[in-house]
Amino acid sequence: MAIKYELIKECKQSGARLGKITTPHGVIETPIFMPVGTQATVKAMTPEELKDINSQIILSNTYHLYLRPGHKLVEKAGGLHKFMNWDRPILTDSGGFQVFSLGDLRKISEEGVEFRSHLDGSKHFISPEKAIEIENALGADIIMAFDECAPYPADRNYVKNSLERTTRWAKRCKEAHKNVDTQALFGIIQGGMYKDLREQSIKEIIDLDFPGYAVGGLSVGEPKPLMYEVLEYTTPLMPKDKPRYLMGVGSPDCLIEGVIRGIDMFDCVLPTRIARNGTAMTSLGKVVIKNAKYAEDFMPLDPNCDCYTCKNYSRAYLRHLFKAGEILSARLVTYHNLYFLLKLMENIRNAIKEDRLLDFRKEFFEKYGYEL
Ligand code: GUN
Ligand code: ZN
Repeated sequence: MAIKYELIKECKQSGARLGKITTPHGVIETPIFMPVGTQATVKAMTPEELKDINSQIILSNTYHLYLRPGHKLVEKAGGLHKFMNWDRPILTDSGGFQVFSLGDLRKISEEGVEFRSHLDGSKHFISPEKAIEIENALGADIIMAFDECAPYPADRNYVKNSLERTTRWAKRCKEAHKNVDTQALFGIIQGGMYKDLREQSIKEIIDLDFPGYAVGGLSVGEPKPLMYEVLEYTTPLMPKDKPRYLMGVGSPDCLIEGVIRGIDMFDCVLPTRIARNGTAMTSLGKVVIKNAKYAEDFMPLDPNCDCYTCKNYSRAYLRHLFKAGEILSARLVTYHNLYFLLKLMENIRNAIKEDRLLDFRKEFFEKYGYEL
């Protein structure tokens, strides 16, 4: 087995899980947020900086690395860890989600997905077997099955067909996976917003027996209360002794609500993407740094943050950098946003340890300005 999951305790107040995943590249404390490094780099961050802010694991993308620079090249370089100089755990998404997001550029069949590259229009075909071949070459500690993520909204029949295909593909992924001792293959649950279809998908995917399970097909444009509802009936049906990963979720409120509903792992481009647009997540809510009201604001981005950015720079300076199109703006705000989310996860883990996660949610939401 490539990974081992240990459930350390459940929060008496919320039921949230505190755990530990041991991987070939080290231990991950859960619940955890995984910064996204789509192109074998977390945009604007060096691996040293990621370590400074205690990133325990990062995510990368099969689809992008297959198209450029090519998985064979990464394999020649000695694998993804060596290629990008990151010696801690990595998870790769299978490309299913990215390929499906291409819209008109792709064609789905039972065999796999034919698509045109978003880079040069060239034609490609990814099957479950191909996705696993690429993920095996990249060498991440955790790899994801090739799935089909239904859009929202989607009618029942469409979702049923796509979840059943996802099960057949999951089985093919498992059979194609070669490095079972060094890479853990996670199954992905689909089923859209339909309770009975989620139940069907959970049963089918869990019957295939993976070392971990992801909840896919959420955070696809549905209202947040609907996502919470789906999680409420999904996680109780998932095994307690395996990690649970909610894909594509990374706003502070959804992280807390996800953990309360039994999720252990999250990833999202949100903190890094909005940072490059000049938006910070802070303990007092969002700060849109380009706003005129910050022109002469010499406070740190977040007065309650002790990251490098907040210790050394003012909102006025960050606004100036952003307005001037300076590259340091993206770097400093990305650094803060990731620090903020990773610190939030650490605070969540501490609250679980002390059986006070619901109290923590209340305090956090009041400050952040969310409705409970
Ligand atoms: N990222 C966000 N949602 C999904 C999903 O449903 N499937 C995959 N593979 N990746 C995702
Ligand atoms: Zn900060």
